[in-house]
Amino acid sequence: MFKKLLGKKSNKSEAILQRSAELVDEKVPSHIAIIMDGNGRWAKKRAMPRIAGHHEGMKTVRKITRYACDLGIDVLTLYAFSTENWKRPKSEVEFLMGLPEQFLNSFLPELMERNIRVQMIGEEQNLPKHTRNALIKAIDTTKNNTGLILNFAMNYGSRAEMVMAMQEIMREVEKGHLTIDEINETHVDRYLMTSHLPEPDLLIRTSGEVRLSNFMLWQLAYTEFLFTDTLWPDFDEQCLLEAVQEYQKRNRRYGGLEGEDEK
Ligand code: FPP
Repeated sequence: MFKKLLGKKSNKSEAILQRSAELVDEKVPSHIAIIMDGNGRWAKKRAMPRIAGHHEGMKTVRKITRYACDLGIDVLTLYAFSTENWKRPKSEVEFLMGLPEQFLNSFLPELMERNIRVQMIGEEQNLPKHTRNALIKAIDTTKNNTGLILNFAMNYGSRAEMVMAMQEIMREVEKGHLTIDEINETHVDRYLMTSHLPEPDLLIRTSGEVRLSNFMLWQLAYTEFLFTDTLWPDFDEQCLLEAVQEYQKRNRRYGGLEGEDEK
């Protein structure tokens, strides 16, 4: 896969391409989830309004989507708006709600060209109509694409998602399809918004904050975490490459033992 990258015409620096080609193919994470944090601080450092940071953050989304696609990642989940983000000033919320439209209006042709499929998790019915329509149009237009899944977490909250899953399971119990003692992890997985996706292999949070902020709490049980001080607008191909290289050094044991210790 990465050998192909080297032969490809690209404006990325040769050094990054060379290092991408050195990644261990079989250990490239299938699903990377990112908490994109630090847009506001990026803007503040430049005496710019917070929304300028979000606009710059949108450009990073484009850059990182392209690179994740080049690296052969299967799923890239981006935490774009949490159920708690409604607490922000109205003008900021309005700007954030306009970003999917801005992003998809200009980027949809390239998403098609790159065979990228757009999906979303989150409570879409509470999004403004224009935001929802932009996402639905992109999801529909790209639904037959078979490459990278670009999964936006938009108006997403993990606790609300788990409550909904529990309600669905209890409905199954009420209908007599399931008994309480039969409920297992597979049932919970089935009713989460991510039921069709592999669990994230790598979680990245930018900006130096070290918390999960109600993001994929169930799904991240065995995920490798990587926290970086880099602010999201400054996060680039080099940063993602380094994150994947760090992931490749990790020893994933899922609670078990490995190698000699297993005997
Ligand atoms: C957190 O940084 C970031 C957000 C709440 C918004 C993230 C959105 C983007 C990066 C753009 C999304 C693009 C599309 C296409 C949907 P913060 O504002 O909390 O930063 P701070 O902690 O420095 O204040």
